[in-house]
Amino acid sequence: MNAQTFAVDTPFIEARGLTTSVRTKRGEVPIVTGFDLSVRRGETVAIVGESGCGKSLAALSLMQLLPKGRARVSGGEVRLDGRDILTLKARELNALRGREIALISQDPMSALNPVISIGAQLREAITAHSDLKGEALHARAIELMRLVQIPDPEARLREYPHRLSGGMCQRVSIAMAIASQPRLLIADEPTTALDVTIQAQVLQLLQRLKRETGMALLIITHDFGVVAEMADRVAVMYAGRIVEEGPVREIFRNPRHPYTQGLLALTRHHPRGMRLPEIAGLVPAYGEARTGCAFADRCPQARAICRQLTPERRSVGPLHDTACWLTETGEVA
Ligand SMILES: Nc1ncnc2c1ncn2[C@@H]1O[C@H](COP(=O)(O)OP(=O)(O)OP(=O)(O)O)[C@@H](O)[C@H]1O
Ligand SMILES: [Mg+2]
Repeated sequence: MNAQTFAVDTPFIEARGLTTSVRTKRGEVPIVTGFDLSVRRGETVAIVGESGCGKSLAALSLMQLLPKGRARVSGGEVRLDGRDILTLKARELNALRGREIALISQDPMSALNPVISIGAQLREAITAHSDLKGEALHARAIELMRLVQIPDPEARLREYPHRLSGGMCQRVSIAMAIASQPRLLIADEPTTALDVTIQAQVLQLLQRLKRETGMALLIITHDFGVVAEMADRVAVMYAGRIVEEGPVREIFRNPRHPYTQGLLALTRHHPRGMRLPEIAGLVPAYGEARTGCAFADRCPQARAICRQLTPERRSVGPLHDTACWLTETGEVA
């Protein structure tokens, strides 16, 4: 994290040196490593990277929602408004989730229970942090349905998830996530499962909700088009690490890490909504003993040092940093 960020404003949420490990047959394997990221009030930050780079695990770590017994935070800290949330008890965490931070997950269908009506699920999300009952509760449910622009909300509330399209289900899960007016909404690939036209509508909806409520948004995506449209700042992840971070305009204009450069070059050749084809070469397997930069084997500019030592993130401009040996010697313009 760049020191200048702290001088401007204290972050609402801040991860420092966060390491998240998963349990495998071969023992515990760190996936997300040395993850430093902060989000300030009202800001939109994007995390971008290819499938499997650890974006969802990082998001779940910030919420302390990792699958029990299968993954855990094994290092570092997460501060929410200055409080270390990794040391909180389950009851204290539940009080924060929904009210302070809420998550929209990658798959809108799995976020909803198929055998419970939309209305009952939305009412449950509302009452998790409020005492609303009866008419007032119903009125709040209708209000939320209107906020996420679901037509005919009275009728929709009585329906079950399978009666709604993927886009409508995602709107319901957004309504549930914002029911307690969280100060930070984490949206994990909120549009990946949707058609291209519906994707644009859901992104517009998130923009509008953000404007109206002032909440901060952490948006996770593999799509630089989404980053350009939505975010103020972007963190690029590769093999469990943030390899570059900076203001979106600056990263587009002057990407410094060869991985970011590769991703941007691919994005420019592929229309929105398509999954990025991989940059040539394989992402290294997690858990393998490895020295040096994880991208070295795929990097067109790798040098000897890149295979020997892991580069740390260093400042390359205002609020812009990257973990790359080439920038240290000025070889990447
Ligand atoms: N519960 C788990 N147990 C074992 N391995 C896991 C678990 N969850 C994630 N992983 C592994 O950790 C890596 C990162 O997973 P993660 O879901 O965070 O990636 P992602 O960047 O969100 O990918 P995608 O873009 O496909 O959603 C993957 O290699 C995945 O197989
Ligand atoms: Mg994911």
